[in-house]
Amino acid sequence: MLFSNAAAVDDAWDQYEVGYTYGLYGTPTTLELAARICELEKGFRTFITPGGQGAIALINLAFLKAGEHMLVPESIYTPNRKFAVEVLRRFGVEVTFYPPTIGAEIESLFRKNTRLVWCESPGSITMEVQDVPAISDAAHRVGALVVLDNTWSAGIYFDAFAHGVDVTMQALTKYVGGHSDILLGSITVRDEAAYKRLGSTHQLVGCAASPDDCSLALRGMKTLAVRLKALEEAAFALARWLTQRPEIELVLHPALPSCPGHEFWKRDFTGSTGLFSIVFQRQFTKPQVLRFVDALDLFEIGYSWAGVASLAVAYDFHSTQGRPNYGHRIVRLNIGLEDVNDLKADLAQALESMK
Ligand SMILES: Cc1ncc(COP(=O)(O)O)c(C=O)c1O
Repeated sequence: MLFSNAAAVDDAWDQYEVGYTYGLYGTPTTLELAARICELEKGFRTFITPGGQGAIALINLAFLKAGEHMLVPESIYTPNRKFAVEVLRRFGVEVTFYPPTIGAEIESLFRKNTRLVWCESPGSITMEVQDVPAISDAAHRVGALVVLDNTWSAGIYFDAFAHGVDVTMQALTKYVGGHSDILLGSITVRDEAAYKRLGSTHQLVGCAASPDDCSLALRGMKTLAVRLKALEEAAFALARWLTQRPEIELVLHPALPSCPGHEFWKRDFTGSTGLFSIVFQRQFTKPQVLRFVDALDLFEIGYSWAGVASLAVAYDFHSTQGRPNYGHRIVRLNIGLEDVNDLKADLAQALESMK
């Protein structure tokens, strides 16, 4: 970016107001992506960050200060939890973890200094759908802000601002990118006050997203609707099929009654996506569960969900406080764009191999 004359030089971050000033605050490509995410999420403005975790960190740095208190669900994405425990506590922020299914009873956890309430719905791996409107009502009564990790719904199937949320973030790395080959995040705000607070912090933290990655995200958005439709259908069909299998105790898919908080999904969401978890019956040992994952042929093993390839990851919650008692029996599945009958056959042969 070059200025047209000496008097036009300006280091302002708010490029919606003043036009393009400096790449750190966004290039025209970054701002185009931000505008489109903002339109999808029906927010006031959106910031693009170099990853979803960067968005989480920036939100916390922008809104919290020493001596303030934050509430975080036990089901939150693990690096979000670790940022709270390992960084924010070091800077004097008080952090309390709450059960994700708490609903309106969250009221009892508020302190005079509670500033921020995080939600993630459904939660990472254990998939609890939260009563976000009840949590938001309680938070707003004490003047706290509600922040939602809206990655699972792609910012589309849950209209966060209509359900009381003040700030949303997404890992655009996931459904918006759509091909497991970029890292990007977004933060979308409801109002100007939050926009100003975030913008001035974003400028100083210096976390600029690559415009090349933004152009890949813009390309991903062109196929987002058809990908989501295909992923929803395939994932729901496989989830329903898995409920019939004798090896499985629970299918944690928000659109099934067996998922904690299913009633809130039914009330508040307009669809589901491709990520859900299964819990094996109690007799299965950890080596058997690992054997199931290793026996899968079409499913790869990896974290970067929401792309076109199906993935499986086994988790072990034996030593994790605040999570349901699924122990080593939980496996998270990401459904991709392979043929659904091929995926079913793959799951069936891997289940057989556990015996
Ligand atoms: C729910 C959720 N939020 C945030 C992130 C972080 O995103 P990124 O990998 O882009 O930093 C992830 C990544 O796995 C995630 O699953």
